[in-house]
Amino acid sequence: MTAATMTILRNNVTSSARPLTLGITGASGLIYAVRAIKFLLEAEIPVELVASKATYQVWKAEQDIQMPGEPEAQARFWREQAGVLQGGQIRCHPWSDVGANIASGSFRTRGMVIIPCSMGTVGKLAAGLSSDLLERAADVQLKERKPLVIVPRETPFSVIHLRNLTTLAEAGAHIVPAIPAWYHRPQTILDLVDFVVARALDALDLDCVPLARWQGHDGLTGSKGDGVLA
Ligand SMILES: Cc1cc2nc3c(=O)[nH]c(=O)nc-3n(C[C@H](O)[C@H](O)[C@H](O)COP(=O)(O)O)c2cc1C
Repeated sequence: MTAATMTILRNNVTSSARPLTLGITGASGLIYAVRAIKFLLEAEIPVELVASKATYQVWKAEQDIQMPGEPEAQARFWREQAGVLQGGQIRCHPWSDVGANIASGSFRTRGMVIIPCSMGTVGKLAAGLSSDLLERAADVQLKERKPLVIVPRETPFSVIHLRNLTTLAEAGAHIVPAIPAWYHRPQTILDLVDFVVARALDALDLDCVPLARWQGHDGLTGSKGDGVLA
């Protein structure tokens, strides 16, 4: 191995700025993805983003917005939605590009979050189909035994959904359903959304969502947004 090759490998392995892969599917609640992007950009955690084909249709249905397909235009689109025009890094990948960096286990990441995650994607992941980039990137996390966080959004669940989620949990995925709590006294819809986003990022040990957290018998202490509550 040459010195140049070793340097490349060392940089790749020890980088403190490893990206997070963010998968977005055609489940309802794209606001979950928007808020996750906002907090990750603000925390300067690089984001490698892939949205499924169905995501385009859900944006249209939920917000009457056409999501751009071209990667750079899409990155600007997510920044505008998240209200973070500067800072951090976000790179978008077409759902069909199974040759992208995140399709390979040799590309080092902090892990992957799929938020929101449809039952279609849950089923395809449980079956190991890898039929698009999002599914392949998630499959890579499982085969490499790296963190994969799935935020399923459906109600009610069928037995098929529950079995597929169990299969994914058995394979090592964290299942963090889009089910907010109420003990943090939410005042707005975003308070409810942010609770779910925080729990999803908690699974990766990323504490970048300002959130009042439960402290035990003292209840909620500190003020919301100070980032120190656990
Ligand atoms: C407006 C809209 C909302 C949807 N909401 C959900 C949902 O909350 N959960 C779900 O599992 N599927 C939902 N679907 C269906 C999925 O989009 C559909 O199963 C799609 O094939 C999923 O593909 P994907 O997993 O590749 O994104 C919704 C579809 C539309 C058009």
